[in-house]
Amino acid sequence: MIHRRGFLSSFAGIAGAAGALGVAPKWAALLQQEAPKLPDSALYGSNDEAYWTEMRKQFLIPTDEVYLNNGTVGSSPMPVLRAVFDGYNDTEKMAQSDPEDYPIWGYGAWNEFRDPLAEFVGCTRDELALVRNATEANSYIANGLDMKPGDEVLMTDQEHPGGEQPWNLRAKRYGIVVKKITLPKPVPNAAAVLNLFNDAITPRTRVLFFSHITTVTGVVLPAKELSALARSKGILSAVDGAHVAGMMRLNLHELGCDMYTSSPHKWLQAPKGSGFLYVRDEVIDRLWNTIVTAGWDEPKLRAERFQRIGSSNVPALWGMRAAVQLANQIGMERIEKRHRQMADYILKEMVQRGAESWTSPDAALRCAIASVNVAPIQITEIENWMWKTKKIRIRGGGPSKIRLSTPYYLLRKDVDRYLAAFDEYKKGKAAA
Ligand SMILES: Cc1ncc(COP(=O)(O)O)c(C=O)c1O
Repeated sequence: MIHRRGFLSSFAGIAGAAGALGVAPKWAALLQQEAPKLPDSALYGSNDEAYWTEMRKQFLIPTDEVYLNNGTVGSSPMPVLRAVFDGYNDTEKMAQSDPEDYPIWGYGAWNEFRDPLAEFVGCTRDELALVRNATEANSYIANGLDMKPGDEVLMTDQEHPGGEQPWNLRAKRYGIVVKKITLPKPVPNAAAVLNLFNDAITPRTRVLFFSHITTVTGVVLPAKELSALARSKGILSAVDGAHVAGMMRLNLHELGCDMYTSSPHKWLQAPKGSGFLYVRDEVIDRLWNTIVTAGWDEPKLRAERFQRIGSSNVPALWGMRAAVQLANQIGMERIEKRHRQMADYILKEMVQRGAESWTSPDAALRCAIASVNVAPIQITEIENWMWKTKKIRIRGGGPSKIRLSTPYYLLRKDVDRYLAAFDEYKKGKAAA
């Protein structure tokens, strides 16, 4: 634990060094100043928009920018950034008391980081490996399970490349078969998804792999029911939860899947390069290591053996731990509620403006991502226009899908600014 005084003076030191190195003075000043205080929790009860407006001050995103692309990467707030610097400040002096605790940093149990995360996501420490992101964790799963040529993995047509491609590689190299179900846009209800999966399962299906929240439309798939379906048929379930940690409450034991991956740099606002792989205790011994160093053949390490990847970026884990702490301080219930409110608001407004909703009408199947189809508007054109003329970041997919991410730090006035810009763009198009 770093004391506040030492912590601040250490920042001043870093800031001085930053100046000497010619780093932007604004950043140096930022390191010297005290972070704005977190808003009083009581404010939430009296005026929740004021509460989130205060919370917004923790983020470096300039006030004149509207960031609607948290689904790609989040923005780490001050407590997280400071924790990362604390991590460097603590370790870079090379003064560890134990001479064997030299910061080679790839061989630790990292329990001080795994424990709070395990509690946050509802599993045990031994079932968690701290890896760099969901892509890495998904690759571990696709490469690590025993499968014979002809064995099938069943997934959706809305998987991210970082989820699907590891399986495609295995298919090309070793002859497993990738099969896909096509999700309707929008997904009407959970039963529709369950039926699609159930009907596509064959005697060769070995793994159900699906995103808990898809990158394409942001639909929240019924992960608990799909995991139960897989279990009932002796099939393994592997869930890509890149978007889930920090967006919605998550309890992996309740979910009941066999494996789960995530990228907390998105909705938990953790540092980039801090992801996790969860493997249910009963399944750990069935998963081979992909990246290998000492410890890979020591079953008693449990999931820790998957995080032994050689020298690693431990200060990112300091930041991840701070991100968990911040989410706990705010409360996941409040965060999830805010996420839902803002996404519902932006969706309703877009539909009123003639957009076709690709977001599920079932509230249980949506959270903080609203997807709409706005044909004939071209996404690349509007994305550039929004950024270059309005300082508004949106993202989507060809030809005409807009995916709007609504993190808790997004304010209602930011959404209104985006909506006004959208109206202006449409009007300009109509006049042209
Ligand atoms: C569902 C899903 N899986 C995996 C990824 C890849 O995430 P990362 O680049 O952090 O590994 C993403 C990124 O958007 C995603 O949406």
